[in-house]
Amino acid sequence: MPNDPVRFDQLDPAIEARVNKLLPQMTLAEKVGQLVQIVPFQMPNPDEFAKLLQQAHASGQPPKLDPQPRPGIEQQIRAGQVGSLLNLTDLELVNRYQRIAVEESRLGIPLIVGADVIHGFRTVFPIPLAEACTWDPALLERASRVAAEEASAHGVDWIFAPMVDIARDPRWGRIAEGAGEDVFLGAALARARVRGFQAGDLQSGRRVAACPKHYVGYGAAEAGRDYNTVDLSERSLREVHLPPFKAAFDAGAGSVMSAFNEIGGVPATVNHLTLRTILRDEWQWPGLVLSDYEAVLELVNHGVAADLADAARLSMLAGLDMDMVSDAYAQHLTTLVDAGAVPEALVDAAVRGVLRLKLALGLFEHPYADAALADQLILREDSRALALQVAQESMILVKNAGGLLPLASSGQRIALIGPLADSRQDLLGTWVLSGRAEDVESVRDGLRAVLVGQEPTYVQGCAVKGDDGLDLPAAVAAAQAADVVVLVVGESADMSGEARSRTQLGLPGRQQELIDAVASTGTPIVVVLLSGRPLVVARLAEQAGALLVAWHGGIRAGRAVADILLGAVNPSGKLTASWPRTEGQIPLYYAHKNTGRPWEGAGTTQFGEPFKSRYIDAPNDPLFPFGYGLSYTTFGYRDLRVETPIIGNDGTLIVSAVVQNSGARAGAEVVQLYVRDLVGSVTRPVKELKGFQRIMLQPGEQRTVRFDVPASELGCISLDMRYTVEPGTFKVWVGPDSTGGLEGHFEVR
Ligand code: NOJ
Repeated sequence: MPNDPVRFDQLDPAIEARVNKLLPQMTLAEKVGQLVQIVPFQMPNPDEFAKLLQQAHASGQPPKLDPQPRPGIEQQIRAGQVGSLLNLTDLELVNRYQRIAVEESRLGIPLIVGADVIHGFRTVFPIPLAEACTWDPALLERASRVAAEEASAHGVDWIFAPMVDIARDPRWGRIAEGAGEDVFLGAALARARVRGFQAGDLQSGRRVAACPKHYVGYGAAEAGRDYNTVDLSERSLREVHLPPFKAAFDAGAGSVMSAFNEIGGVPATVNHLTLRTILRDEWQWPGLVLSDYEAVLELVNHGVAADLADAARLSMLAGLDMDMVSDAYAQHLTTLVDAGAVPEALVDAAVRGVLRLKLALGLFEHPYADAALADQLILREDSRALALQVAQESMILVKNAGGLLPLASSGQRIALIGPLADSRQDLLGTWVLSGRAEDVESVRDGLRAVLVGQEPTYVQGCAVKGDDGLDLPAAVAAAQAADVVVLVVGESADMSGEARSRTQLGLPGRQQELIDAVASTGTPIVVVLLSGRPLVVARLAEQAGALLVAWHGGIRAGRAVADILLGAVNPSGKLTASWPRTEGQIPLYYAHKNTGRPWEGAGTTQFGEPFKSRYIDAPNDPLFPFGYGLSYTTFGYRDLRVETPIIGNDGTLIVSAVVQNSGARAGAEVVQLYVRDLVGSVTRPVKELKGFQRIMLQPGEQRTVRFDVPASELGCISLDMRYTVEPGTFKVWVGPDSTGGLEGHFEVR
């Protein structure tokens, strides 16, 4: 395990002294320079970029951007006009620009290089939504550390992750980048990932600062459309969307990226409530606030700034410290200060934040990355092994009728069918700057590695998207000649992530036709579903004998799938976002409110029938609920004990239950604790996760699982808008998912 991680959220007197010495030496222009983050190369225009992406997709290689340096960049750095570079991962270039900053700029202040290392650098792990399904903070801490190790060796100082946005709408493509729908789990994983990124003993000899994002409410975009309007109550903001940020700060994160969206009419970039009142006044957090990409400029589109100068003024006044790419601060801040429209003290405060971070990272002492180390630290065997473990734990078995899985490793004729069965690029998922398809094991590669004495018949069947390549006869023939079909279907990597919202969450292209044709043969089907979000797959789930949700699982995903299908690994992942039956149910999440006419209750009779909060054409509940996932073994729950039936609001709830492996294989279970506050000054969710433990049990083994929940975690934003632990009766459940479990009560007095 890592040593104690570095904290970037606390004022260190030695660092403050250095900041105090440096700041008065800086001209206003040099100060402003520190607040400017630029992309160090020229991006291709959108048409060229689309062409490159297409080529990349066809070749299975990352896009060949062949970036040209931004004109005049060296001069800008030399003149102290740039504080930070974005998404530069070419170590030689990083060192070259850094040398100019350190040796040729007047004050020698180093650059800070920030990059999107979302689920690994070269060792690409499963997408974060998949990682979350491990419910294994310690494991994700190690995975984040590997990402930091590799990225820092390449000169990255600042990782733009974890994304801690709560997402309850799978239409939103960025649900892939976060931990899912739950606040408690989201906070736990945010802490773990910050600790991993900020590990104090990286072998690169460098340090990395995490940057939780996107502050705040970005996941609540109306209609799941990326960048769309958000209109949240302050209560939901505080109860649902803020806690994972607070958790990340409590773990030592000293920077944050503000979001693109507005909340109730006020864009996050200029939001005094979130940037000043909450961050600074309430939380006393001294960290650095960075805008999202061109978000300052986008204030003009939002319609709250007249032009770029106005946008710069409003952002600085609101407490936005660093401008990512808009060039608003670079072009206008000096003039705004000279004109008295922005107090220089605000600029100073922002610059302090940047200098503090650079000093705490040790950049003044160790500005350069070491090329020899970079090669050694990349894709190490132990990192690849970890990527395999994360992939294995992230996959969720949601159906296994008649024990179709695991398959026998020999003697069963397998037909491997589907457009994603032999794809490598798609397993990388969204947001991979440095990942390479050549590092990936496809599902076909994985099966080849574990099957004894047979090569499965392989038929692609159709393309992931569009109409090309449909070959039903070949798929049917392969299925007929096999004992079992392994069907690998889902979304391609470019269908989730930023700006990848969808309105229809079924399988794209002709995939359902392919499945129908294969199903018509009667050969049992094991479906491996690869995606960046929960999909709407009720029909597929019926047709499948077994269904494994495998996400975009990173470089070892193919091997992990094979290990699970063949039984070398017992699946243990549990969903962290509900899977809807139909798009019309969205947003869908387990921690919903009861309403005055709950769908499970008797309803209120009007016109001779019960009127309830439900649909007339679909059930309310999801196809697969939050927390759900099967194993090749079974787990029995019994003997719930509420050891503290009455607690004070400063006490601790202690609850235990006995969990037994009642099947024939060893397996891991994620034991979950939920509560419900029955009567509050305001309405409370019908269930809220407040504890979880991942335990490993041998066949027949039983364990008493004990949860200690501080009463301080049972509060809500009460009627007076203060966080309060209200007295009253709570229900508590301990169980395998969010739908059932052993039930008890306790009281807070
Ligand atoms: C925009 C995205 O919203 C953000 O997550 C990312 O870090 C920046 N672009 C920089 O690439």
